[in-house]
Amino acid sequence: MPMNNNKNLQAPRTRSRELFARAQQSLVEGVNSPSRGSAVHGDGPVMLERGQGTQVWDADENQYTDFMMSFGALIHGHAHPALVSVVCQAMAEGSHFAAATSAEVEAAERFRRLVPSAEVVRFTNTGSEATMLALRLARAHTGRTKFLKFEGHYHGWYDPYLTNAHSHPPAELGPPENPRKIPDSRGIPLTTFDDVVVAPWNDIPALERVMRQRGRELAAVITEPIMANMGCILPLEGYHRKLRELTLAYGALLIFDEVVTGFRYAPGGCQEIYGIRPDISTFGKALGAGFPVGAVAGPRSILDRLTWGSDMVLHYGTFNGHRLTMKVVAANLDMLSAEGAYKELHAIGDSAITGLRKVFRRHDLKAIVQGFGPMFQIYFTNQASINDYRDFCTYVDTDRYSRFVQKLMEYGIYMTPSNGLHWIVSTAHGEKDVATLLEAADRACAELA
Ligand SMILES: Cc1ncc(COP(=O)(O)O)c(C=O)c1O
Repeated sequence: MPMNNNKNLQAPRTRSRELFARAQQSLVEGVNSPSRGSAVHGDGPVMLERGQGTQVWDADENQYTDFMMSFGALIHGHAHPALVSVVCQAMAEGSHFAAATSAEVEAAERFRRLVPSAEVVRFTNTGSEATMLALRLARAHTGRTKFLKFEGHYHGWYDPYLTNAHSHPPAELGPPENPRKIPDSRGIPLTTFDDVVVAPWNDIPALERVMRQRGRELAAVITEPIMANMGCILPLEGYHRKLRELTLAYGALLIFDEVVTGFRYAPGGCQEIYGIRPDISTFGKALGAGFPVGAVAGPRSILDRLTWGSDMVLHYGTFNGHRLTMKVVAANLDMLSAEGAYKELHAIGDSAITGLRKVFRRHDLKAIVQGFGPMFQIYFTNQASINDYRDFCTYVDTDRYSRFVQKLMEYGIYMTPSNGLHWIVSTAHGEKDVATLLEAADRACAELA
């Protein structure tokens, strides 16, 4: 019987390797997203077969405690019984009609109650669709075409967002006052980026400068409220306030991309935590508790442009407001509204952060743990903090991180070796999971040192 004890090295991943070899015959790179394949997972990914709560099992029956949680989508862990029952019932009634349903009304009402800036909401199927729609709305609303995005911010795979989203060697970045635009994908006409202004994040003088120069041309400034695609980078004190002030001054809309942060830190996301009212916000991941969904929210004055007519902003979609998903969203938002739900989420995350810092100190390793509560990242670095994209590209030893995570996997922790992502704690996590993580980290550090 293969081992499934988190304290021990895992059984050889024979079946995972076989499956991955098979996968490569039918799927490009053997996967459906490059973040899951050999580019990130070295000699091939662990093939996961099932999950329950915080635990997942691979094809060789190895058991892991999951801290990746489907890139944050699984806010209640795997196969939460309440959600399983909602899904079974919705499926039995008919999964989707591509017609108006009470399920989407119930989901939208709960959404509006929780998200401060959501006068109305439009559901999409993914975060990428939501950010795509947000930009279209902003352009229609302002009559301007350009927009500003920040270095190192990822907003999905829509063409205009795919510049300066990946990390690159510092020598390639160009001066911060005029970053070189580096497309992240082939197949996008370079002229697409003529409409994109790129600036460094977390730098108020740089923001003031670029807004002075370009602010009046911008339909929108889009930002992740907490940078979640270069690990976990928090905004410096006052940064979001300045962003709000300047976007208002220059007539550009402020888009908060809360695809990662929404429903993670607080019922109302980062806009609640930082007390900022964006013009448009986008959601995904935790909203669907494991089901594919996204959302665009904001005031009627902007979102009503989606209303049918000659002046409309077009947004179609066979699966928009998917009935089964809407049932899950409504149940999920009820669960997240429960007294104390976020208090516990923060407490467990903070406990993992504090514990990891102690482990690294004990082993005298130059590593920091950044973030708070339900989301954090480890950086192997000599710096006291990583404050922006350029810090990440310059000072973070991402290879060492990857080796560290591969070791953790051997000790029964499931996590992506990509340093650009982040550790996630769900409502299913408890102190027992944190203890498992810290013990594994202790052993991994001993080997890494
Ligand atoms: C901040 C942010 N926005 C948008 C997206 C795109 O979401 P999706 O992968 O659901 O298309 C992501 C995905 O990781 C994200 O991190």
